[in-house]
Amino acid sequence: SRAMSKSGERTFLAVKPDGVQRGLVGDIISRFEKRGYKLVALKLQQVSEDHLRKHYADLKGKPFFEGLVKFMASGPLVAMVWEGLDVVKQGRAMLGETNPLASKPGSIRGDYSIDMGRNICHGSDSVESAKKEIELWFDAKDLCDYKKANDVWVY
Ligand code: TYD
Repeated sequence: SRAMSKSGERTFLAVKPDGVQRGLVGDIISRFEKRGYKLVALKLQQVSEDHLRKHYADLKGKPFFEGLVKFMASGPLVAMVWEGLDVVKQGRAMLGETNPLASKPGSIRGDYSIDMGRNICHGSDSVESAKKEIELWFDAKDLCDYKKANDVWVY
């Protein structure tokens, strides 16, 4: 179909523990489904600080690093892989800015948050980091390879 090459792009998204506590899981999933993206993996899981130190390795040494790791390990989060055209960049746009106060209304962070340390969701910031994050969070066998009507109606 038209955009075949980039339509197989994948990103790692997570609803952080605050998003789970606030009941925003369904809304966040719904936004990506309605946009036309395909869910290829999903799990609710409370992960170790050690796992999160690997996930956020690039931020090691930042003043907020330890607090971030502890917050992310404080409760279950929803880890997901989404697939579709330009999904890494579009996913980031749908999330909003790192700082919720800089996020436009209509974005997830802009609609639901005001505090940088409680910004509800994570999304990979590049195709390269998406690959790394998907490998860190999921076994290859847990990524579902299937066709969806979207493949016909969206692309
Ligand atoms: P970062 O990877 O820079 O942002 P993003 O999640 O948008 O890719 O930072 C990871 C998380 O760390 C961010 O979502 C919220 C938290 N954080 C702070 O608490 N304080 C800060 O100054 C920054 C930059 C991030």
